[in-house]
Amino acid sequence: METIFSGIQPSGSLTLGNYLGAMKQFVELQEDYNCYFCIVDEHAITVPQDRLKLRKNIRELAALYIASGIDPNKATLFIQSEVPAHTQLGWIMQTQSYIGELERMTQFKDKSKGKEAVSSALLTYPPLMAADILLYNTSLVPVGNDQTQHLELTRDLAERFNNKYNDIFTIPQIKVSEVGARIMSLQEPTKKMSKSDVNQKATIYMLDEPKQIEKKIKSAVTDSDGVVRFDKEQKPGISNLMTILASCTNQTLEQIEEKYRGVGYGQFKQDVADAVVNELRPIQERFYQIIDSQELDDILDQGAEKASFVANKTLAKAKKAMGL
Ligand code: ADP
Ligand code: NA
Repeated sequence: METIFSGIQPSGSLTLGNYLGAMKQFVELQEDYNCYFCIVDEHAITVPQDRLKLRKNIRELAALYIASGIDPNKATLFIQSEVPAHTQLGWIMQTQSYIGELERMTQFKDKSKGKEAVSSALLTYPPLMAADILLYNTSLVPVGNDQTQHLELTRDLAERFNNKYNDIFTIPQIKVSEVGARIMSLQEPTKKMSKSDVNQKATIYMLDEPKQIEKKIKSAVTDSDGVVRFDKEQKPGISNLMTILASCTNQTLEQIEEKYRGVGYGQFKQDVADAVVNELRPIQERFYQIIDSQELDDILDQGAEKASFVANKTLAKAKKAMGL
């Protein structure tokens, strides 16, 4: 069985975009792959975090994975900082990377632009990400477009190490996520919906109450031509709502266009809101059952143990190859 690694940062409340674009797909992937789902808290601290908020975000993220349907018997769910091999191999991968190539990463440029104090960890984040992936002999990494550059670097670092020392690392393939799964901001539909967006009206959070969801969708930016038609260039707002409706109801975009011919935006938005509420309801119910449970602690303990077992073996091989 092929191995998949995926990390999500606990850097804010998860959005409908995170769910439809990542988690919902993970639930399917766990059936056919050996999956590691990692809460990458060490990546989150490359920028300042409030201690209590970070703790809450880590816990919530873990509960949302389980509530979304990740089965700890089928996949390994764990917290990065509970498996020390990540930072240990991360250091080794730093020794294989050059400052110049790290400075060329677009995400580093974006996140450091205009900032007075930038942590050196923001620069060395990609070698840590490489370690995350390489520790598990990962063959596939599902990522959004924004992460492909880091993945290319992971492959380069792994090849560089293998050539220089010994053939230790599996070179991972990039699995770019399926089309249509990219959810956009409700207020600026040419921008992706993101948990770090400061405009709360633009974002549906997985834990939003039905009333909030309805309100946000009803005030989503659309256009004035009154036609429910998929056209990302001319009608980004309506196209985004159609994508959301399609993802939540398993209808195709064509079926949706057909169904809403001659129907106003009011009714359409109501249906989108209902579909999102229905999609998230069972997840929210399960979330509140487990968020404060011993069960969740146990899942995370076992996940860290399972992950450590594999990670420590790879780390030991890498150290030995280097003479440590
Ligand atoms: P965010 O931008 O919300 O902080 P991350 O960069 O942490 O999200 O991404 C976590 C996962 O969620 C990734 O697999 C990413 O591809 C996916 N994802 C994030 N935002 C969206 C979106 N708007 N639509 C679809 N998938 C998304
Ligand atoms: Na992000």
